[in-house]
Amino acid sequence: MHMTLKVAVSGASGYVGGEVLRVFSEHPDVEFGALTAHSSAGDRLGVHQPHLRTLADREIVETSVNTLAGHDVVVLALPHGTSGEIAAQLPPETLVLDCGADHRLASSEAWAEYYGGHHSGTWPYGMPELITADGHQRDNLLGAKRVAVPGCNVTAVTLGLQPGVAAGVVDPTDITAVLAVGYSGAGKKLATNLLASEGLGAASPYAVGGTHRHIPEIVQNLEVAGAADVKISFTPTLVPMARGILATITAPLAAGVSADEVRAAWESAYADEPFVHVLPEGQWPTTAATLGANTCLVQVAVDKKAGRVVVVSAIDNLVKGTAGAALQSMNIVLGYPETTGLQLQGVAP
Ligand SMILES: NC(=O)c1ccc[n+]([C@@H]2O[C@H](COP(=O)([O-])OP(=O)(O)OC[C@H]3O[C@@H](n4cnc5c(N)ncnc54)[C@H](OP(=O)(O)O)[C@@H]3O)[C@@H](O)[C@H]2O)c1
Repeated sequence: MHMTLKVAVSGASGYVGGEVLRVFSEHPDVEFGALTAHSSAGDRLGVHQPHLRTLADREIVETSVNTLAGHDVVVLALPHGTSGEIAAQLPPETLVLDCGADHRLASSEAWAEYYGGHHSGTWPYGMPELITADGHQRDNLLGAKRVAVPGCNVTAVTLGLQPGVAAGVVDPTDITAVLAVGYSGAGKKLATNLLASEGLGAASPYAVGGTHRHIPEIVQNLEVAGAADVKISFTPTLVPMARGILATITAPLAAGVSADEVRAAWESAYADEPFVHVLPEGQWPTTAATLGANTCLVQVAVDKKAGRVVVVSAIDNLVKGTAGAALQSMNIVLGYPETTGLQLQGVAP
């Protein structure tokens, strides 16, 4: 039976909002209702998202409980700290997908330490592939009315390392993760360090020394995947590309584990996953191979001399890292096939 889902997108002028509009427009039952934002209210969408041709003449309206009322689904793509207040006023029967951080963390202490201010609470977590004690996170999403869509760096690191954690073949108390991150990960805001003249010729680390806000979310996920104790050194670096995350994650090989057992852990974890692909041995993920697609590409190797497992994962931060994860979660929540409307094919070169 064909039904219509009236979807409002809040933050429609931003990078994530634009990508939500592009990705969700491929879903057969989605019809867009209100497109809302803040300083751009009153503008045509085409001024801010000229690539979204079918929506170019739509007017952006102010974000409010009134403009978001009367929809089946509301997607929030707002700065963290903004969505919690709005979401709390939306009707309980509306499906709300929050692409921001406000509802991802279970721990109020972790929220206070890394974000500060009021913790808006914890929603079902929108990472279907997350390995849980008794299955996968997708089992917890069916019928949910609120979904916290994961962070982009978090997605790259969690999907990269969790098979080894769940299978007990790595030691999760000594993880390193170094990420190359495209500029859209920082949002559309104006900032000196985001100017082309600063970034085009540079690789620029940021949030070094354990301060990045995605750290507690990664720890939370790896604990769900079976780690008793997680210690991670996490360092992102902006590199001159518009989109994409390449995460290189290492952890000590657990005692007595062979390279074949490591490979088997990753291959079996993702054998049935439609969007997470372990590449053939020797082939390494690139961000270019994920652009525009809802895929996460993964490779794993054992560095015998260092005694460490090395994982490389690649995603498009705006697709698998947020808008695609939101649509994948919506499909599960509403009982659609999980892959409905989602792209496996990337844009290349
Ligand atoms: N960028 C990524 O790769 C990525 C990935 C995963 C998750 N996220 C999360 O997704 C959210 C959006 O990120 P983004 O990169 O799209 O940021 P962005 O490009 O800066 O867009 C922010 C959007 O929020 C709107 N906005 C700002 N303040 C508002 C307010 N007080 N009330 C209502 N709307 C307001 C802006 O509207 P105006 O332009 O009209 O002011 C704009 O549409 C953030 O929470 C971010 O952490 C981002």
